Amino acid sequence: MMDPVGFTSRLTAAARARETERPDRLFRDEFAAALAGPEGFAFLERHWMVFGGTPRPNFAVRTRFFDDFLLAAVRVREIRQVVLLAAGLDSRAFRLEWPTGLRLFEIDQEEVLDYKASVLGPLRATPRCERITVAADLRKEWSRGLVDAGYRATEPTAWLLEGLLMYLPAVAVERLLAETARLSVQGAELGVDTLPPGFLEMRQFIELYAERGCAVAFTTDDPVGLLARCGWRAGLHSTPEEGVRLGRPWPVPLAPDAPRGALLIAERAAP
Ligand SMILES: C[S@@+](CC[C@H](N)C(=O)[O-])C[C@H]1O[C@@H](n2cnc3c(N)ncnc32)[C@H](O)[C@@H]1O
Repeated sequence: MMDPVGFTSRLTAAARARETERPDRLFRDEFAAALAGPEGFAFLERHWMVFGGTPRPNFAVRTRFFDDFLLAAVRVREIRQVVLLAAGLDSRAFRLEWPTGLRLFEIDQEEVLDYKASVLGPLRATPRCERITVAADLRKEWSRGLVDAGYRATEPTAWLLEGLLMYLPAVAVERLLAETARLSVQGAELGVDTLPPGFLEMRQFIELYAERGCAVAFTTDDPVGLLARCGWRAGLHSTPEEGVRLGRPWPVPLAPDAPRGALLIAERAAP
């Protein structure tokens, strides 16, 4: 049985399924609908209601942005080790074209990984890389399990931390980011998203997540500074701007002072 934060993985899977249905889709995730299930789609509908009922492309833009990040890391920078932290129901291991020799680790809560296996097994989903799952609590000590599963700290890694930080206490956020840096050699890269404090003013959004038991615990108006403190040199992009770049502008224009989600790509800072 997934806990409430684990259940948010079905929300993001539902968003990827909806994107997959579009003729102008930014990616295709053939497993997302089954992984989301009716409960995932119901949560997504509630989520959109909070934002006035009009679906926004934030999840789709984020997915495509980080697809591009990971593919550039392996194709251009020839990284051969990928770690998806809080992977949830992410199906990148199964749907992206990975180079030969690519090893991809997925870390999440045991119940989420079990649920994912129970859905993907009957679909006969086949990973396009060497896929290794690791059950761990990312608020605690988690890296020993990763190393025991075969992670090589001497090799450059592309880390992805997508859709997690908003649920963690600030102290756990910094510890987690610092641990990724400790496990990274020069050439390692990290993709991560954060919310600015302005989202805390969006009462209906905050209430929906609190009511579901997955309260928003972390926001930052200085994600680049946060990453720098933790050993990463980051570049910042805003989700709506990336939406415009990808040909998917917000359907209702955002007010100039409306909070914008942040998408960051970072490289390991020299010690
Ligand atoms: C919104 S989902 C994001 C999943 C995936 N990265 C995506 O973008 O679709 C949040 C994920 O974080 C995971 N998670 C939350 N707290 C965690 C923790 N303490 N340790 C490990 N995973 C955690 C949940 O199980 C869930 O899969």
